Amino acid sequence: TETLRSLAEKNGIYVGAAVNVEALGKDERYSKILAKEFSLITPENSMKFNVIHPDRGRYDFSQADALVDFAERYGMKVNGHVLVWDQQLPDWLTKNHFTKEELKAILHDHIRSVVSRYRGKVWSWDVAAEAVGGDGKLRDTFWSRGIGADYLELAFRWVHEADPEAHLRYNDYGGEDMGPKSQGIYDLVARLRRKGVPIDGVGLQMHVELGNFPNEQDVRRNMERLAAIGLDSHITEMDVSLPMPATADDFRAQARVYLNMLQACLLASRCRSFSTWGVTDRYSWIPESFPGLGDALLFDQDYQPKSAYFSICSLLRDN
Ligand code: G3I
Repeated sequence: TETLRSLAEKNGIYVGAAVNVEALGKDERYSKILAKEFSLITPENSMKFNVIHPDRGRYDFSQADALVDFAERYGMKVNGHVLVWDQQLPDWLTKNHFTKEELKAILHDHIRSVVSRYRGKVWSWDVAAEAVGGDGKLRDTFWSRGIGADYLELAFRWVHEADPEAHLRYNDYGGEDMGPKSQGIYDLVARLRRKGVPIDGVGLQMHVELGNFPNEQDVRRNMERLAAIGLDSHITEMDVSLPMPATADDFRAQARVYLNMLQACLLASRCRSFSTWGVTDRYSWIPESFPGLGDALLFDQDYQPKSAYFSICSLLRDN
């Protein structure tokens, strides 16, 4: 039977979702839809530093293992998320003082341990996320302060050492279309490429709202300039928040936004995956983080496919 997953495959792209490991463990409807409709899993939180490396020298791979096993069982790819990020860092790391050399050793060990464990099982890694500011300049982060400006370059090289086959990506939000932020991201990854740093792609997160979403042509143009320097692009965390309670018109407008962004990906020469930041409106970060907004995904609270689901399926079918 025809599913989002099978239609995406015909178009040569992966269709993914961020996975909430608790929902996966307790709700059979969740695991069924995930395996049936999606071909790529991004752990929503399970591979983040504070979860996978909770104490100095102690790793906890239990959640990540469960997700990687699930993906293997259902023939899905895994996108590892995320190695170098300024959030969800454990207290042992942020509340102690480390010298530059110590921090380098900690990050190197972290990357080596996590990446080598999943070598051959993780298709792509979000090596670094959200390192560029709205003005396009490199942000001041825990890692940049502690290690220095070359922390990104080092991280990509360490990941590549631990798994030479994995696709390495830089992932950010707000840099989807053309503007100062996407220019800054472009300049960063172009600089890395010129230096021979192993980087394969850029993730455009695509957390958007009805009144505020990028222009389709500009998203495509952005993807094409990345392709021109040999980089793949990915839509990595899409959701389209609606004002709650949402109306029928809102759902239709939401479907158009999903359709336009998928269209940009399909028309671009090197866009390889399209992922949403969750599976169902029952479990989504939006209502907690933005009270009054929600219903941002492809399946509703009762796991029913929404207009957005049907419109992206028909685009994939007719493309
Ligand atoms: O697991 C703990 C739980 O033990 C504790 O009782 C509870 C109390 O607050 O917190 C739980 O952790 C929460 C975690 O999600 C798991 O539910 C954290 O507080 C909460 O901050 C965390 O939020 C995540 C957020 O990243 C962290 O900044 C969201 O689920 C996750 O969707 C979101 O994902 C990010 C991407 O990684 C990067 N791009 C943006 C995207 C949206 O913010």
